[in-house]
Amino acid sequence: MKILVINGPNLNMLSKRDETEYSVFNIEQIVVLLEKEFPNLMFTSYQSNIEGELVTKVQESGLEYDGLIINPGAYSHTSIAIMDALEICKIPKIEVHLSHLANREDYRQNLLTAKSTNGYISGFKENSYLAAAYLLNKLISK
Ligand code: DQA
Repeated sequence: MKILVINGPNLNMLSKRDETEYSVFNIEQIVVLLEKEFPNLMFTSYQSNIEGELVTKVQESGLEYDGLIINPGAYSHTSIAIMDALEICKIPKIEVHLSHLANREDYRQNLLTAKSTNGYISGFKENSYLAAAYLLNKLISK
């Protein structure tokens, strides 16, 4: 099974961000954790800081992959375009957040993009991605 892992803006800068909210691992290391934990799944990683590029990648993912893990970063709270692309994309898809959004600022409480996914996981740092892979595997194998 082929899984695409999409990370949005500023997730390429994890080593410079607040470790107490996010993770001590960078996104390349998180993909290594995924590969170790799920040797039966094939992961491809994509990161962009640009909204339109994320939209295009989501659109394409339906043709090539069996499932999608997406952390849209701050676009989770603002992007109707990514939400619409996720709605069009019919493969199983799970949104992840490293930080515990329910405990954070008001402007992070609106989860636009998550509305167009099968569900979201928030607050388990790098383990949010591992939980998403576990659940995607279940959704795809069903
Ligand atoms: C984030 C949460 C967003 O609110 C924030 O803008 C990010 C990271 C997370 O993984 O916790 O960049 O998506």
